[in-house]
Amino acid sequence: MKRFKRGVHEVAGRSAPRFIERVHDRGAARYFHGRRKELSVFETLCHAATESDGGTVLITQGPPGAGKTALLHECARLARLWGWQVADIQPDALWNGRSLRNSLRPPSRRWHRFELDSLSANVAGIGGGGGWRSLEMAPIDRLKRYIRKARKPVLLILDEAQILHQVQVMGAQKTAAMTMLKAIHNGDLGHPVVLLAAGLGHTLAEFSRLGISRGGVDDLADLTSLDCKAARAVIRDWLKKGGGAKGDVTDWMDVIDRETEGWPQHISAYGQRAALQIQKDGGMLIEDGLLTVLTKGRKDKSRYYARRLGRNHILRRERELLGLLIACCGWSKAWSPIQLASALAVLEGELNAPPTDTVEMIFGRGVMAGNDNGDFRIPIPSMERFLVGYARELLRQNEVLTQELVAGMLAALKRTNYPLSAERELAVSSDRLHETLGEMAEVSPLPGSHESAFLPDTLPQPP
Ligand SMILES: Nc1ncnc2c1ncn2[C@@H]1O[C@H](COP(=O)(O)OP(=O)(O)O)[C@@H](O)[C@H]1O
Ligand SMILES: [Mg+2]
Repeated sequence: MKRFKRGVHEVAGRSAPRFIERVHDRGAARYFHGRRKELSVFETLCHAATESDGGTVLITQGPPGAGKTALLHECARLARLWGWQVADIQPDALWNGRSLRNSLRPPSRRWHRFELDSLSANVAGIGGGGGWRSLEMAPIDRLKRYIRKARKPVLLILDEAQILHQVQVMGAQKTAAMTMLKAIHNGDLGHPVVLLAAGLGHTLAEFSRLGISRGGVDDLADLTSLDCKAARAVIRDWLKKGGGAKGDVTDWMDVIDRETEGWPQHISAYGQRAALQIQKDGGMLIEDGLLTVLTKGRKDKSRYYARRLGRNHILRRERELLGLLIACCGWSKAWSPIQLASALAVLEGELNAPPTDTVEMIFGRGVMAGNDNGDFRIPIPSMERFLVGYARELLRQNEVLTQELVAGMLAALKRTNYPLSAERELAVSSDRLHETLGEMAEVSPLPGSHESAFLPDTLPQPP
């Protein structure tokens, strides 16, 4: 938020205003709205914990930008209001007493690092118990000592909990983590303690591996878009409170609402752009201002996808394949991991590439997310269009390979009983695939040039 505030001060001051070029689109919300259901579950369970001197483990998961960190901050804020003691813990605090001790210290005395040495000890089979480390108190004992001293109920917050899955907690560390989680979840500590964890896809599954099943925590489980009312309330606050807009903001709200599709990260990015623009225009809502917001907002959106789907996350060919899958199979349909894996195996065979753990990556990174029916889809509509853009590019570059590839992929999908319509199959075997992809792609980003993404030839006119 600091960067943003600096931008505002520069605008408010008389010296030459300089507008920030990057928006801050992660973490605590400046204007928090919605998530009523999740907050109410949180409140109920905290209340139950204080009533019974018990505890619980609450888990939420969702793709990047869904608002997990913001929700954790809001829960922490409420808990403090109710008189709880709140501590952020690192993932390794579940099995590493030193890390837990550090997390429970006052913020000024904390060091921030994830204990990789304990992980390598685990990988090397030493477990967490050997050498000088055994002198360290077990996390469960450390926690008991802490809550004995705390005169208040305790809320432990664990963000980015997908790390637990990525590092594959095993051996003595797994046992320590399970002991600690079980004690909290069963309310065995004789003191109100709630652990609230959030992470990307796989987080729930990982907690289940550590003995905390999903049952009973469903209402907090999968975080997706904000509902329409909440999304509009956040946008309104950005315009009115953030930008100091004078007069009726409905038109701007409508446009930004349409562009952001309820996705918290997009709303945050567009909201900041709009607030800065309105400040620059002295509180006036000018048509040109809105066009500037749209242009910049679309660039932000495209950067966000490039970051999410970039080199460190999923590979180009996998992005393209996902795009092709969406274009060929219908984007309203959901895939199971098995269906995706079959289609990807075809691609790998075609390219003589060694099998990758792409499916793992796609789900783990939140490029796709699950729903209650056990189906999986890409959670942000415009991210689907972004992927289709890549697919279109692939088609343009190498049509023959792609036609064969898609046919093979469809055959693989069919073997998994994926419901393909005849129309879709026809589209694949004919030139219409080009057309279909063209219609579906919001843009056709060229490889390596994310700047052009999401910028169509002409911008829509504000109403
Ligand atoms: N309920 C909400 N109300 C307002 N802004 C929100 C809300 N949820 C998330 N945001 C904003 O959206 C952006 C992305 O949210 P964040 O919590 O960082 O997502 P995640 O942790 O899931 O990746 C942040 O700028 C955050 O402040
Ligand atoms: Mg986060």
